[in-house]
Amino acid sequence: MALPAVDTEYLKEIDKARRDLRALIAFKNCAPIMLRLAWHDAGTYDVNTKTGGPNGSIRNEEEFSHGSNNGLKIAVDLCEGVKAKHPKITYADLYQLAGVVAVEVTGGPTIDFAPGRKDSNVCPKEGRLPDATKGVPHLREIFYRMGLSDKDIVALSGGHTLGRAHPERSGFDGPWTQEPLKFDNSYFVELLKGETEGLLKLPTDKALLEDPEFRRYVKLYAKDEDAFFRDYAASHKKLSELGFTPS
Ligand code: HEM
Repeated sequence: MALPAVDTEYLKEIDKARRDLRALIAFKNCAPIMLRLAWHDAGTYDVNTKTGGPNGSIRNEEEFSHGSNNGLKIAVDLCEGVKAKHPKITYADLYQLAGVVAVEVTGGPTIDFAPGRKDSNVCPKEGRLPDATKGVPHLREIFYRMGLSDKDIVALSGGHTLGRAHPERSGFDGPWTQEPLKFDNSYFVELLKGETEGLLKLPTDKALLEDPEFRRYVKLYAKDEDAFFRDYAASHKKLSELGFTPS
């Protein structure tokens, strides 16, 4: 599919879609699943084959029906209303914009958004996203394949400050923090604190404590929310632009 022409008109539509997404997310309290949608569309990127990535392919049943995407059809459907009002905007841009807005409206950092992503209907094979039951080597293998770093792994894991796991979707249950609709550094504070009744820690969350390089960032982000917000905004932007060079 062709690249969208990022002209004045396109930028105006992006602005309007941004407002519509703010209203939708506030009304539906759906920031967590919107962030998860943006991450799962982007996180399939393979830096070696230059396939996958933030290209809107997750809107196809072939991809949203992957086990790791359980529940994300809800977010795909929520975005359809915005797409219908702004048909010029590509799905790829729309999903990444939804992720950026989700972080912003829940109190997180402002993430720079550059439009112009191309849509694709080519769905990656299942298995490119991380498996929550695994450990440190797996996390590195998956995120390095995307072209991301150790710092990106820890900063982006802080996305679990939002939302919760649903037994019928992933087999896991519960939120990571006491206020799952607030974007702050409490994911790292809770991680260092250890087990708390009612709060979730996935094996991949706990893995961040095991590796000295990962742990260094966990400790930094737990004590310094500004450092977390700064690094998160940079890593989120990288994730949202995998395989894409803004014009
Ligand atoms: C939810 C795994 C990284 C954002 C979940 C769930 C799992 C999971 C199992 C629960 C899904 C459900 O039952 O509804 C992982 C693993 C990661 C990872 C193994 C590897 C590091 C990330 C990243 C972000 C993110 C990088 C965003 C920057 C979210 C959000 C939710 C979530 C916001 C909550 C969704 C909701 O409330 O509906 N993740 N995740 N995750 N994840 Fe991750």
